[in-house]
Amino acid sequence: MKQEIDKAMADYYARRASEYERVYQKPERQADLRRLADLLSSAFAGQDVLEVACGTGYWTQFIAKSARSIVATDINPEVLDIARRKDYGPCWVTFLESSAYSLAGVEAGCSAGFHGFWWSHIPVQKIGAFITCFHAALSKDAMVVMIDNAYVEGSSTPISRRDENGNTYQIRQLQDGTKHEVLKNFPSSLGLRTILKPHANDVRVTPFDYYWMVRYRTKR
Ligand SMILES: C[S@@+](CC[C@H](N)C(=O)[O-])C[C@H]1O[C@@H](n2cnc3c(N)ncnc32)[C@H](O)[C@@H]1O
Repeated sequence: MKQEIDKAMADYYARRASEYERVYQKPERQADLRRLADLLSSAFAGQDVLEVACGTGYWTQFIAKSARSIVATDINPEVLDIARRKDYGPCWVTFLESSAYSLAGVEAGCSAGFHGFWWSHIPVQKIGAFITCFHAALSKDAMVVMIDNAYVEGSSTPISRRDENGNTYQIRQLQDGTKHEVLKNFPSSLGLRTILKPHANDVRVTPFDYYWMVRYRTKR
């Protein structure tokens, strides 16, 4: 069953690759998106960053403005192909096809970590395993930043159901008319802090109107 959720998620994003960045054109979200872009443009000054589930490289572009290097990973070659075509300036950016749950091929020791809009897609029963794997690829006391969606009535796709583990789902339609059930969780600030507590120091949660950002240091 777990396997099926993961495969369905990966397949959905492979099919969505060419239309993915339309999500960053929603008019009501532009002010928040500019704030996130500004924050990420300076957050990683001089760092060697591991980015998980980088998709089309939308956030990679902003991280690259101050980072020294980025290893950007995703499970889908379709999105990585789009990401590779972007301009990252002088930052040394390499892309790697790798699952977030194994990070196979990633060289350990990056000084910072980032993932955007990935946390919400991790089944709650797999979050601990993901954090362990992610942190193992980072240096001790590494800085981590993650951003994701808040649920906003009227702007977010409605929740269609909740499973026995507490994961929530949405039914999403692609431009070709196909419909896909996608696991999408909307954790509270307290929920995020509770899950991160055993793994993180200096946890800071910043709510935006449509998004949230969490910054912390790894506890290892
Ligand atoms: C919501 S998108 C986020 C993309 C990008 N981080 C952004 O914010 O624009 C989720 C991404 O997770 C990737 N993905 C799905 N399953 C994955 C897995 N098991 N391991 C790594 N990436 C995965 C998809 O290919 C997709 O690019």
